[in-house]
Amino acid sequence: MLSVTILGVSGSIGSSALQFLRLHRDTFTLKNIALRNDWRSALDIRAEFGCQAVGFEDSRAAEMFVRHAPNTRSRVLSGPEAASELASEPVDVVLAAISGSAGFPSVLAAIMAGNRIALANKESLVCGGAPLLELAASKGVPVIPVDSEHSAIFQCLLAGTRQEVVSLLLTASGGPFRTASIEQMRRATPEQALAHPNWRMGLKNTIDSATLANKGLELIEAAYLFGCDEGKIDVLINPTSVMHSAVCYRDGSMVAQLGRPDMRVAVGYGLSWPARLESGVEALSLSELGALAFETVDPDKFPSLGLARSALRAGGDGPLLFNAANEIAVKAFISGKLGLMRIPALIETCLERGAGRFTGGLPDVPVLCREALDFCRAELAGQS
Ligand SMILES: NC(=O)c1ccc[n+]([C@@H]2O[C@H](COP(=O)([O-])OP(=O)(O)OC[C@H]3O[C@@H](n4cnc5c(N)ncnc54)[C@H](OP(=O)(O)O)[C@@H]3O)[C@@H](O)[C@H]2O)c1
Repeated sequence: MLSVTILGVSGSIGSSALQFLRLHRDTFTLKNIALRNDWRSALDIRAEFGCQAVGFEDSRAAEMFVRHAPNTRSRVLSGPEAASELASEPVDVVLAAISGSAGFPSVLAAIMAGNRIALANKESLVCGGAPLLELAASKGVPVIPVDSEHSAIFQCLLAGTRQEVVSLLLTASGGPFRTASIEQMRRATPEQALAHPNWRMGLKNTIDSATLANKGLELIEAAYLFGCDEGKIDVLINPTSVMHSAVCYRDGSMVAQLGRPDMRVAVGYGLSWPARLESGVEALSLSELGALAFETVDPDKFPSLGLARSALRAGGDGPLLFNAANEIAVKAFISGKLGLMRIPALIETCLERGAGRFTGGLPDVPVLCREALDFCRAELAGQS
């Protein structure tokens, strides 16, 4: 049996993982789960999977959990360290699926403990950068990407050697505003931004997909994961989200991974790697699909992608700042305090004004993230 810890178990990725585990009860056992405050989901998951430990970031949620499961045999942890504590318990694989930079400490803890990681939480890699992967390599910890694009590239890279790779192609859906005008995007409401045409995801990831800041984060993630220069990572829109990404080789071959837009495939591969197990997702029907369409990204509608490239080229704290500014801007957009097109504007301002203030080593990253978030919050307040 392979033991699993899921960090962010009550979220969209967590739910895909649980669906996958239900198909493979003879192969996996769910040992630990961590989440923020959704104690009702935790009660159901614990009852179904019999986890040994449950960790809540919010201590009141932990109290509610215990109150509703007074005879639970699961250990219950609470507080900001709970996810990291569980991440460092030895298991075969830790699925890192907390959203945002809040996921960094638990990813670091899992690596320090030598636990293999299935990485959905792209923000932790954007903030930790190459040193996070160097630490993982030094500890012999495999980091298997779960983002569908990075899972695709990871799989496509099995077709050749790194020396044979010329470039990577990241695909994007284009989100709900692919065909909208800039004027329509300026007036976009959170409800419109949350209506993603292809993927069902958590709140932040869905807004990030509407601005393509998500593709910016993914570009940074791909550069680190695959040791690839930003200039050698192309981004193209594939509106149906069936071509998940591709690798171009020097002999002119392009190796792509295709499938239905369903995260159970990438999550399942992240958990079962190097094996492939049934995910419950049917193979794509190319005859039903008929055609594969592609479009280039309009930089005026989606400036976040170019800003991510600049942040990556600038190096240092550029990616961390990009992420922090985006996190603050997305929260403000969701609460109606900021227009959609002002998300990239805030990122740009923060990159310009904050660069160089948030540098340090890996152990400093949680504090640097907090400071960068405070800085961006202040920049936002100064604008209104
Ligand atoms: N959804 C997708 O299809 C998708 C695809 C690729 C990559 N990703 C990445 O995967 C990650 C998760 O995305 P998601 O869409 O699954 O997010 P989500 O639906 O918002 O779920 C987030 C999960 O993290 C937990 N959480 C949030 N803050 C926490 C904290 N401080 N401590 C402990 N747990 C915390 C939440 O718990 P509560 O429910 O208690 O709040 C929830 O379980 C993100 O980094 C995203 O970029 C997602």
